[in-house]
Amino acid sequence: MSEPKSKNIVWSESQVAPEQREAILGHKPATLWFTGLSGAGKSTVALATEVALVERGINAFILDGDNVRHGLNSNLGFSPEDRTENIRRIGEVCKLFCDAGNIVFSAFISPYREDRDLVREKHPAGSFIEVHVHAPLEVCESRDVKGLYKKARAGEIPEFTGISAPYEAPENAELIVNTAENDLDACVAIVIKYLEDNGFIPAK
Ligand code: ADX
Repeated sequence: MSEPKSKNIVWSESQVAPEQREAILGHKPATLWFTGLSGAGKSTVALATEVALVERGINAFILDGDNVRHGLNSNLGFSPEDRTENIRRIGEVCKLFCDAGNIVFSAFISPYREDRDLVREKHPAGSFIEVHVHAPLEVCESRDVKGLYKKARAGEIPEFTGISAPYEAPENAELIVNTAENDLDACVAIVIKYLEDNGFIPAK
């Protein structure tokens, strides 16, 4: 992990206990780290789960790859170094959301295992939930919602994940959501059940 560039900086500890925030919010904080190929359904499942949680009175929030690349990470591309920096920054933001007591979804390809593991290490124990949103490459490619696989196959997009850049699938994800075998409602139900069963949110 890189050391801060600044010298003479001192960490100041919050005087508010995480339990106080839990009592106010009525749920535990969590980062639901969705990882998977482009077109696997990360954003789709995260968006629908966010709605389901908000309808239950939980102020869940999504950080989405394409959106964050318009703002916070607008200076980053898709080289391995830039992807690592993309994930590092998002990981820090997710940790801040968790510190604030929230449930936050991140929907980024996050292709490198090491980068995801670093984000996990940054989080308070138990608050990082790795969710492998999985569909076989052929399925993602046949969906081609954004038309990017076609362009990647034609050589118009270099370093495209799954085609000309690697994707390292999780080996110990807390949850696997297979979007090729489950419809959207079933995928949402899998995530919600995990949160209920593990005491993050109250059971309905
Ligand atoms: S990550 O690899 O750094 O985690 P991120 O999730 O932020 O990627 O962005 C992925 C999205 O950017 C894809 O869903 C797709 O819409 C778009 N994209 C554009 N170029 C590429 C590329 N070379 N590889 C993968 N996705 C790309």
